[in-house]
Amino acid sequence: VVDALQCTEYGTAINVKGWVRSHRNSKAVDFIALNDGSTINNIQVVVDPETIDAETLKSITTGACISVIGTLVQSQGAGQTVEVQSKEIEIYGLCPSDYPMQKKGQSFEYMRKYAHLRLRTNTFGAVFRIRHNMAIAIHQYFHEHGFHYFHTPIITASDAEGAGEMFQVTTLDLERTGKGPVPYEKDFFGKKTSLTVSGQLEGELGATALGAIYTFGPTFRAENSNTPRHLAEFWMIEPEVAFLDKEELMDLEEDFIKYCVQWALDNCKDDLAFLNKMIDKTLIETLESVVKERFVRLTYAEGIDILEAAVKQGHRFEFPITGWGMDFSSEHERYLVEEHFKRPVIMTDYPSEIKAFYMKKNPDGKTMQGTDVLFPRIGEIIGGSVREEDYGKLVHEIEARGMEKESYNWYLDTRKYGSCPHAGFGLGFERLILFVTGMQNIRDVIPFPRTPKTAEF
Ligand code: 4AD
Ligand code: MG
Repeated sequence: VVDALQCTEYGTAINVKGWVRSHRNSKAVDFIALNDGSTINNIQVVVDPETIDAETLKSITTGACISVIGTLVQSQGAGQTVEVQSKEIEIYGLCPSDYPMQKKGQSFEYMRKYAHLRLRTNTFGAVFRIRHNMAIAIHQYFHEHGFHYFHTPIITASDAEGAGEMFQVTTLDLERTGKGPVPYEKDFFGKKTSLTVSGQLEGELGATALGAIYTFGPTFRAENSNTPRHLAEFWMIEPEVAFLDKEELMDLEEDFIKYCVQWALDNCKDDLAFLNKMIDKTLIETLESVVKERFVRLTYAEGIDILEAAVKQGHRFEFPITGWGMDFSSEHERYLVEEHFKRPVIMTDYPSEIKAFYMKKNPDGKTMQGTDVLFPRIGEIIGGSVREEDYGKLVHEIEARGMEKESYNWYLDTRKYGSCPHAGFGLGFERLILFVTGMQNIRDVIPFPRTPKTAEF
């Protein structure tokens, strides 16, 4: 369809296949809007009732899948330049009237119950084409900048974030009991293993060998966060670079996000125009301004000052501002970005206690060189830091946090043998897609969302 819509060689014989979006009839002819997923735009098929049996024509309802052989002609109607004059229609699959996606304008909550069918709607078609394009942009960016795509394991034996939010991996044994699947008594790997919460630690091994790497893969968190911005299974992009300092890390974060957003503006015009009309009237404007403006760079302490000043001026937050040492909620992050600065913010130098063990401490001993990127409508979109490269300091931190040093020995070897300064970050892929599409809920930007109490497929 995307090719047919661009073709102007009128009179060309053509075969289009797709799903019926709508079917209406005027006195003389029937109009079928057909979509094959290649573009948000439908192609109009004009059917002369003389060319087809009346019952068959009537059976072609919304959602049915058909193949049309006909001629590409210049369209007389408004809204399209070409259409297909049908000669012959083959029906691949009829669509009974209980088709859950038949009625237009259903709520996203309703459509989530039909995640397997919502893919066929205009909005989800647009979202998932953009998702594809963002994946291409990410690979393109890193390839152009000399990063190597590095595959880190999904099954791991250590907790990369040290936060204890992991899904354990066990084996099932059907045969032994005959009573259905039960966990194997002896662990397959001989030790406890889980699904990865981040590829960073293995990514650091890659960076200290290949110079600059990035990962791009599924990530799993057993955090019980039922919010529009958390998933139990999400995709993360984690670049890691040797010899990078804090300023350069922030430059990389900003340049990378801007590249991806610009890519969407350049390559997803029709889908963005659709979402701008249907989902968020300020979408394209917001994307354009993010690409143009320099991100604000702010320390955590400055952030706290701004929030405290806001409270003094009468602003009310749902989560109280308790001063230095508090963790920001997305409400606080969004206040800074949406109301105070009206621009994305890179926040740095958090208190060490509220961040992960691997982050490099500042000489003050209190704060560390973290660099989170906060975005309008999203809150935290990137979490990053300079890494502690000193063996002794890192061991001290691991022990002070009560973590099991033995399971990090392989990681500590990067510091033991030829340690180097390095830094990296993680971007939540779905949070980027949320921002670029204007969608409100993270469950609506991944084809099959996994959240607490839901994993239907
Ligand atoms: O801030 P996080 O936890 O950082 C890390 O995992 C580091 N190891 C990254 C690194 O430095 N290599 O997660 C990074 C990003 C967050 O900023 C957020 O965008 C996303 O991953 N994220 C989630 N996205 C969806 N659902 C969740 N439950 C998420 N948790 C984190
Ligand atoms: Mg974080």
